[in-house]
Amino acid sequence: MKKQLELIAKSYDRGIDLGRRGIDSYDNFPSYITNHPNYPLFQQMRMSETLSDSARKEIVEYLAPKIGMKFIDLGCCLNLMFSGYKDWSSTYYGVDISSKTIELLHEYTEKNHITVGDLHCCSMHETPYDTSFFDIGECVGSLEYFEKDFVQQAVVEFSRIMKSNGRFVLDIPNIGSPEFEITKLIEEYLGRKDRFNLTVEEFETMLSAYFVTEKKEIVGPMIQYFLVSIK
Ligand SMILES: C[S@@+](CC[C@H](N)C(=O)[O-])C[C@H]1O[C@@H](n2cnc3c(N)ncnc32)[C@H](O)[C@@H]1O
Repeated sequence: MKKQLELIAKSYDRGIDLGRRGIDSYDNFPSYITNHPNYPLFQQMRMSETLSDSARKEIVEYLAPKIGMKFIDLGCCLNLMFSGYKDWSSTYYGVDISSKTIELLHEYTEKNHITVGDLHCCSMHETPYDTSFFDIGECVGSLEYFEKDFVQQAVVEFSRIMKSNGRFVLDIPNIGSPEFEITKLIEEYLGRKDRFNLTVEEFETMLSAYFVTEKKEIVGPMIQYFLVSIK
C-alpha cells in the first residue's frame, strides 16, 4: 500500500509540475492509446468534462453547502480552482496525497485571498481531523487506485470524521465498462495504475455498515454514491 501511495503522489506531483509549465498530461498519448477502439470515448468524456466528476451540479445540489458547514474534499486535487468549490458557502477543507497540489492550492488561496478551513497533504485513510468534525464531504476520482484493504480503511476514516447524518459523495470504478477500461489504460500510462479489486456487491456491503445510500449513478467510468453517514 505504501508503494502505491508513493507512486500516486509522484504521478500527481509530476502533473502539477507539467501544468505549471503549461503542459497538459492528458495530451500527446502514445499510439497504443490513441489507436485503442475506446479512445474516442475518452475524448468525448474529456469534452463533456465527465472526467472531472467533482464539478457535477448533482454533487453540490445533494451536499447543499451552507454557511457554518464544514466540507471535506478528500483527494481534492485542484477542485478549489477549477470545479467551482471556492464559491460554496461552506468552509473548505482539502486533503491530497500530492504535496505539490497542496503547495499550489496554498499559493492560489493566498494570492486570491480565499479563506479555507485547511489544506493538508496526507492520505485520506489517516486524516488529522477530529471525530464527527464535518457536515458534508466527498471523495471523487480517487478510490480506484487502491485495493480492498486500503478502501476499507478509507471508508472507516470517512465515517469517523463525518457527523452522524452528514451527507457524503464518493465513487468507485465501473469495472468492465468501456469508459473505465480506456481510462485505466491512460492512468497506467501516467504512472498511477488502478488497483481497485472489489466487486460492486462487496463494496456496497462494506459501505452499508457506515453509510446509507440515498442515490447511485453511473457517471462516465465511475459509479457515484450519494450517502448519509450513520453512527
Ligand atoms: C483523479 S484526481 C480527482 C480529483 C477530484 N476529486 C476530481 O474528481 O476531479 C485524484 C486526486 O486524488 C489524490 N489522491 C489519490 N490518492 C489519494 C490518497 N490516498 N489520499 C489523498 N489524496 C489522494 C491525487 O493526488 C489526486 O489529486
